[in-house]
Amino acid sequence: MAHRGASGEVPEHTLTAYRKAIEDGADALECDVRMTADGHLVCVHDRRVNRTSNGRGAVSALELTELAELDFGSWRQARTTGWGPDPYESPEREDTDRTSVLTLERLLRLVAEADRPVGLAIETKHPTRWAGQVEEQLLRLLARHRPSTPVRVMSFSARSLHRVRAADPSLPTVYLTQVLLPRMRDGRLPQGGTVSGPNVRILRTHPEYVARAHQAGHEVHVWTVNDREDVELCARLGVDAVITNHPSRVRAQLAHG
Ligand code: G3P
Ligand code: CA
Repeated sequence: MAHRGASGEVPEHTLTAYRKAIEDGADALECDVRMTADGHLVCVHDRRVNRTSNGRGAVSALELTELAELDFGSWRQARTTGWGPDPYESPEREDTDRTSVLTLERLLRLVAEADRPVGLAIETKHPTRWAGQVEEQLLRLLARHRPSTPVRVMSFSARSLHRVRAADPSLPTVYLTQVLLPRMRDGRLPQGGTVSGPNVRILRTHPEYVARAHQAGHEVHVWTVNDREDVELCARLGVDAVITNHPSRVRAQLAHG
């Protein structure tokens, strides 16, 4: 799965990053969603837009029209040594695909229009701040634009996942975790989670966890898997999915070893 699109190579969460991920052979796309001041879900990782755009301020304090004025594509070229021109620039593509804020609705359309099946893993950020509105809006969008391919909702918040499952028990939910909580060691998940989403560091120290989660009936989707050694580890342990900034590299490694 492509983490924020092919974000190791082009600016994260842009339409271009997701198009590249699809062309690079990703089976699914991961995105983070946040709610704007006027209730739209946009694909932005940080609470503020400062790191990934030429603007400032919290996503939750900005309206979609204000976000639409910002450039979400040039920051990386400006800040990364040797980044150079966007290698994925294509004259027939709108320049705004590289720079515009991406709405979840637009990403859903991209998945629906893809020339092959591509799944989607949508992570709810700041779900507690909006007391259920993020999940409500997400479910409303999915009701209108749900792709026929697998869609999962991910979160570090079990409460957020629980809200999603309560409203739509057909949606798989991925419980993300940085550390292996003692109550998860036997493979169980907090209520609301149906799939386990451990950080790859957990598998380095607790490789037995994958088998335990499988025995408990949960798939294991691991993030963020960018190094050769971590890809090898995940393949050896038989995890069900890896989330990576470099889908093309991981594809090549899995194909050729
Ligand atoms: O896919 C899960 C992973 O994206 C969680 O971490 O901070 O990159 O959203 P983060
Ligand atoms: Ca994420």
